[in-house]
Amino acid sequence: MAIKALRGMKDILPPLSDKYLAFIEKASHIAKNYNFSYIETPLLEETALFRRSVGESSDIVGKEMYQFIDKGDNDVCLRPEGTAGVVRSFIEHKLDRQGGVHRFFYYGPMFRYERPQKGRLREFHQFGIESFGEPSVYEDASIILLARDILDAFGITYELKINSLGCPACMPGYRQKLVEFLQSHEDICEDCKRRRETNPIRVLDCKNEGCQAIYEEAPKLSEHLCADCRRDFTKLQELLTQNGVSFTIDPHLVRGLDYYTKTAFEFTSSHLGAQNAVAGGGRYDNLVEYLGGKPTPAVGFAIGIERILDLIELPRSPRQGYYIGVMVPEATDIAFGLAQKLRRSERVAMQYHPKSLKAHLKAADKHNVRYALIIGEDELAKDAVWIKDLEESSEKVIPISQLWSDDDRLRYQNLEQ
Ligand code: HAM
Repeated sequence: MAIKALRGMKDILPPLSDKYLAFIEKASHIAKNYNFSYIETPLLEETALFRRSVGESSDIVGKEMYQFIDKGDNDVCLRPEGTAGVVRSFIEHKLDRQGGVHRFFYYGPMFRYERPQKGRLREFHQFGIESFGEPSVYEDASIILLARDILDAFGITYELKINSLGCPACMPGYRQKLVEFLQSHEDICEDCKRRRETNPIRVLDCKNEGCQAIYEEAPKLSEHLCADCRRDFTKLQELLTQNGVSFTIDPHLVRGLDYYTKTAFEFTSSHLGAQNAVAGGGRYDNLVEYLGGKPTPAVGFAIGIERILDLIELPRSPRQGYYIGVMVPEATDIAFGLAQKLRRSERVAMQYHPKSLKAHLKAADKHNVRYALIIGEDELAKDAVWIKDLEESSEKVIPISQLWSDDDRLRYQNLEQ
């Protein structure tokens, strides 16, 4: 039987791959404008890294890890997300000891053994950013604006939800109040009962409607924030409003990873189905220290690229480059040499097999090139090429020697020259 890709894993073929590349290029450009630099970390890391950072009580670590023992007896795991690896790298390269602010962006595959459905894959791609060393809430606002700019660049409409998850000064007090509330409710689902013991905050984003009705009455995190967290959360809202971002405050937005403190946010799109989160992130001020580094505030987000691709319509790109074809086999070597030379600076599609002029022009149109260069019997005899500008619909025959100037640069850029 033919071998197929694994369940939940997808090939990205043209024309979807054109969208993928266009997205990476644009998002990287925007991240650079915000002063972020590219980082690449391995796909495979020690399992302990994700257990400690993403958290034992999260679904990712509890159920979804691609974990195995390698030939050297190491317990390793395909990364389920990008933040943990970037934090590990940040500490390993002693950037925490350098001080200052370090900003990174990355993209690539992530792996989660989830139940595949529309918008939910086992291998998917994220574009993410992580900023280290800046405690100011202006940085939180700045990265939310960065995510907004990326979504805007592709005309993606979104809803933004924000919340504050508090800090070590106010979170434990709130957690205690929430546990007391949960203990007086035995009618919550089994998952929530388990979370009541392991990570009570996570009950708040339970999808069970019965539980949600109960949690309407639960103590609200926003009412238990310390003065610092409250001030920052208010300032964040001001900054977003001043910069044209509309949002709603969702007191039940807790995110599925355990490392968040203070700001948490999620961008969703109503054009997607059940899996409507296109990006998520927040602050994680304790994670660097927790993984053995110097205490360093940090904030970041990741966009799910597959979900974005579903929403992007790329405009048809303008005609660009050359198509080269021959009408007689004796012309192929010359045409081949011409293609090689042109490819130093231009996109070239070459057809090796002789065809009629009509067939070549049809193919040139399909390749969306600007110029068709064809060598037939007459042109071969004159050491020339027949050129058609597919945009202007003009054509002429010119000697091959005139295609390049003396300094060997392509001279022929339009037929009027
Ligand atoms: P996350 O919310 O788990 O956050 O994932 C971010 C985005 O990845 C989601 O909003 C979604 O678009 C996409 N995504 C997640 N799981 C899947 C899946 N199974 N199939 C397709 N797309 C998916 C993080 O991963 C954090 N590391 C974000 C972050 C960076 N926080 C701080 N810095």
